[in-house]
Amino acid sequence: MVRLRGNREYDYRQGWVLNEDAPAGSVEAKAEYIDNGTALLSPERYFDPAFMQREWDGLWAKTWLMAGRVSDIASPGDFMRFDIGTESILIIRGTTGEIKAMYNVCQHRGARLVDADFGNMSAIRCPYHSWAWKIDGTIAHVTDRETYRPEVLEGSLDLPQVRHAQWGGYVFVCLDENAPPLEQYLGVLPEHLAAYRLEDMITVKDVEVEWPANWKTVADAFLESYHVHVVHKEILPFFDDYHQQWDLYENGVSRMLMMFASVSPRHSDHTSVNPFLAGLLQEAGIDPAAFDKQAGDVREAIQRAKREMPERLGPCADEFSQNQLTDDWNYHVFPNVTFNLHPEGALVQRFRPHPSDPQKMIYDVTVLVHPITDPSIRLPGYMGVEDGTDLTGAVRPERRYSTYADGGVGPVLEQDGTMVPHVQAGMHSRGFRGARLSEQEQRVRHYHAEIDRYLNGEKW
Ligand code: FES
Ligand SMILES: [Fe+2]
Repeated sequence: MVRLRGNREYDYRQGWVLNEDAPAGSVEAKAEYIDNGTALLSPERYFDPAFMQREWDGLWAKTWLMAGRVSDIASPGDFMRFDIGTESILIIRGTTGEIKAMYNVCQHRGARLVDADFGNMSAIRCPYHSWAWKIDGTIAHVTDRETYRPEVLEGSLDLPQVRHAQWGGYVFVCLDENAPPLEQYLGVLPEHLAAYRLEDMITVKDVEVEWPANWKTVADAFLESYHVHVVHKEILPFFDDYHQQWDLYENGVSRMLMMFASVSPRHSDHTSVNPFLAGLLQEAGIDPAAFDKQAGDVREAIQRAKREMPERLGPCADEFSQNQLTDDWNYHVFPNVTFNLHPEGALVQRFRPHPSDPQKMIYDVTVLVHPITDPSIRLPGYMGVEDGTDLTGAVRPERRYSTYADGGVGPVLEQDGTMVPHVQAGMHSRGFRGARLSEQEQRVRHYHAEIDRYLNGEKW
């Protein structure tokens, strides 16, 4: 049962609750409100180079960062590169199968060793003067060693190792030796996302694009649905952008539970089965022409249909709550990743800071799905996967490098892309007093508060 806005009163401590019957302590249960205050967000944090430097020292160098998929380095010698700010990390599968992460920097004069994003190597060789390392990072070759005075080569010449750990089929890295273990850092996430089995999903889309805005300007846009009725109004016939369950957790983690196949209260027609709802019915195997009910019945009909087709929903379909079968559960993995989770798969967004310009960022969009081998099964359109994409897992799509002008991340995300530079530009205005956040945007306030705790040295 969903409590509708009716008399338009909103109790911020209570919020909207999508399932009043969810048992206390269950994944779907409403979390207790965390009060992050009411202060305005200062604009400087979105463009000031000094703030960017504070973030580098206090945030990026201290937190666990999602680097890449374990499945992309499946065989000995496979590697992937992960760049964050001014750092570059090399993650390699060793000859005996173990994973190592190390700084991607030559110990001779500092050249970056590996330029490719992915590949396979039997040794790491510097492209400048050909020093070389084994793939576990131990030094293997110093060119013309006899021409060095011995003192110069004192100390370790191995590549410095970086902490790493895995969750959900991802390798995470952390540049800080004192950070708590990944498991502790992730808080509720492993339990909350267990049913989706991210580790069993395959990559079916992978796009990297630079956007002209601070990484937080972009992250903010994906942590609220307040803008949907203007920027994405075409989705209102099947997306309730208003009654959402916003939950805040420790460590900057948050979520919003968003009803799909449910008409927005801002949309005019709540009765007829509009073409979007009809499309969702069709994708769930229900003939819309034979559906003799109303718009308000569609969501439940799809939930029932999906429950009867567990083979479409991955290996743990039984573990999903009724709402999870239709809805989009968006989680924020602090500091810079969001998952839009559907039973069929996940849209994963990562927001990386530009190495030098606080007004640019690198936006990574990937889509993961549970493999589909039956050609008669169609992936729902909301997964944003192009027709003709291999869904069996036989082919891992190449990473596409797109430009802001060329788009390439899909129509809805590109609508956000057209908005963020305008926000970035406005931040500089002397006439802007700072961001005033509604409770619909409480997740934005929540992670900014966590960033401040890092920058103020309150974490570790
Ligand atoms: S900088 Fe790498 S061998 Fe010289
Ligand atoms: Fe958006």
